[in-house]
Amino acid sequence: MNRSSSALSGPSVDNVIADLDAKITSLVARIKKHEAWDALTSPNADGLFVRLFMKELYLEIYSYQPQVIEATIAIIGRMPKSAPRMIQTMLIHQAQEADHGEVALQDYVALGGDEQYARTRRISPASFAVASFWWGLYRMESPFCYLGALYLFEGLTPLLCQAVLRPLEKQGFPVDALKFVTFHATEDLKHQAMVRKLLTTATARYPDALQAIRYGLDYFMAVYPIPCYEEAYKRAKHEYGAIMEPKTGRIATRQ
Ligand SMILES: [Fe+2]
Repeated sequence: MNRSSSALSGPSVDNVIADLDAKITSLVARIKKHEAWDALTSPNADGLFVRLFMKELYLEIYSYQPQVIEATIAIIGRMPKSAPRMIQTMLIHQAQEADHGEVALQDYVALGGDEQYARTRRISPASFAVASFWWGLYRMESPFCYLGALYLFEGLTPLLCQAVLRPLEKQGFPVDALKFVTFHATEDLKHQAMVRKLLTTATARYPDALQAIRYGLDYFMAVYPIPCYEEAYKRAKHEYGAIMEPKTGRIATRQ
């Protein structure tokens, strides 16, 4: 972290970043207590169920991601025009993210998902809430809320991708369906570091941004990511049941 910025804003930024980190840590703990997490990472996880669950998770990611790109670029367009370097950094980052929904779609298809269905279905309520959140920031809030929400996005994804990667590999999960997870396990660490720098430079120049950054993360946490996980988990259980019940009477519930 760049601690050499303005002495006026430095400590406050550090406090805010520590606060954001603590919220992300507690969110990770909540996610890991959810039965869906156990279904994915337990040494006794059912390989078929894991593939169905990951397939539905990829579908959720694909469902909201194009809207995230469009809305975040619109939000960046509302940043103060006196900071072209900051705007440039933010736009380059979103350009790099532009095809990540397509990567998730490739993984979805590699697990047997129907591309045509994914591209034409009405997205789930959970994904609609995530997509709407970013458009809501664009319409209703300080653009600096973007940085708080982005910090959650970029901070949470590598933690979760790293945590599931090893268990999935041990289960023999198809490698060609791990592009999204493998990439984000490392790449988003760089993005999180980039967002930290943006938090420092933005708040040094625009001190009022600090409060907006806090709210940005809190707003986003209300809709992301647990509702999307629950949506995917519910669909995976349904599909698993449809496959297994005629054969064995088993249902897709965890012990
Ligand atoms: Fe990223």
